[in-house]
Amino acid sequence: MAVMKNFMAWVDARLPVTQAFEKHMSKYYAPKNLNVLYLFGVLSLLVLVNQLLTGVWLTMSYNPSAEGAFASVEYIMRDVEYGWLIRYMHSTGASAFFVVVYLHMFRGLLYGSYQKPRELVWLFGMAIYLALMAEAFMGYLLPWGQMSYWGAQVIISLFSAIPVIGPDLAQWVRGDYLISGITLNRFFSLHVIALPLVLVALVVLHLLALHHVGSNNPKGVDIKKHKDENGIPLDGIPFHPFYTVHDIVGVAVFLFVFCGVIFFFPEMGGYFLEKPNFEAANALKTPAHIAPVWYFTPFYAILRAVTYPLFGLDAKFWGVVAMGGAIAILFVLPWLDRSPVKSMLYKGWMSKVALILFCISFVTLGVLGVLPSTEIRTKIAQIASLVYFLYFILMPFYTKWESTKPVPERV
Ligand code: HEM
Repeated sequence: MAVMKNFMAWVDARLPVTQAFEKHMSKYYAPKNLNVLYLFGVLSLLVLVNQLLTGVWLTMSYNPSAEGAFASVEYIMRDVEYGWLIRYMHSTGASAFFVVVYLHMFRGLLYGSYQKPRELVWLFGMAIYLALMAEAFMGYLLPWGQMSYWGAQVIISLFSAIPVIGPDLAQWVRGDYLISGITLNRFFSLHVIALPLVLVALVVLHLLALHHVGSNNPKGVDIKKHKDENGIPLDGIPFHPFYTVHDIVGVAVFLFVFCGVIFFFPEMGGYFLEKPNFEAANALKTPAHIAPVWYFTPFYAILRAVTYPLFGLDAKFWGVVAMGGAIAILFVLPWLDRSPVKSMLYKGWMSKVALILFCISFVTLGVLGVLPSTEIRTKIAQIASLVYFLYFILMPFYTKWESTKPVPERV
């Protein structure tokens, strides 16, 4: 033990390891009333590590070329020792990432976690979300199946809807006149190295910003207002060991579900691994129905909901604008909410109804985005898109007008 102590003293004199551990773990005081929704940040971290590790192992046997990609994935599934497990951990991990991140974001909406002083925590979170979408999109091209190919074809062709520079831009992104091995190579490079670096850097910034201001909580009470004589928040408990031990339970439950999916439903009925992707990419054969993976479908539905040309620009262009706007508007959320309280517990009925309608519209759009469009579905998507945008556009008004309940002094 003395050896260990001396060793740590030697290290600490050169690198403040103990100090960093105390700052972020054993002396980081988190509100004592955090609930189960506060688990999803830790689970996002867990899934991130899973993706990075399984990704490294997949890369060892994957062949990033148009000629070899599909066959190398089959090789991983059939011949590489435990290759099937590594691949299913990675493909299930991609969907699990979005499940936990969507719940993590929903928690933010529910408890006003994006409000002052956590605007930067939210902005870094949104940057993570964007990087994650790019990462998932590029990863999806890599198995070089039919849906990889045609999904990328649909999304990259969206660039060509931009007036004047669009077609050149789409060609620049592809690196070719059509999606080819060149596109595959650049997506591989971005998916395997560039975006993971960006993601990890953003997650570090996200957590540094959070630990600078401290965690919010389900009541939105500021725990820093009441401190003891040592400056420790009276309603705070050290993150370590209290929340580390507490989180192990949640992690165990998550891993049960995660393993259940990997071992029993790795394709999840075509939602995690789409059926046409078991056929190699074929530029001469368009699949009957092209749909992105489930986590993109709400935005895909918004894209397809725009069917009217405007100001001489075609509907596709406005669809792209609406889809981009649907994501962009989330960035300014901290400045749209003008409520004096954070948590939905103390907000008025208008905020509550708005959030419920928003969630219904998001899920409806998600379901519609999976299905082939029909006239009636397009109508429903249009209404749901309108509700989606109104939630944000009207927020400065209903959060200001409604009467709120008083927030307690202590948690
Ligand atoms: C790789 C993805 C992400 C990781 C690893 C991550 C990690 C974390 C962790 C560990 C926490 C503290 C625990 C908790 O409050 O749950 C946290 C808090 C937070 N995250 Fe994330 N996050 C990610 C993505 C996002 C995204 C996409 C957003 C929103 C756009 C976001 C917004 C927030 C907010 C607002 C908080 C503070 C919550 C509060 O104190 O009430 N995060 N994040």
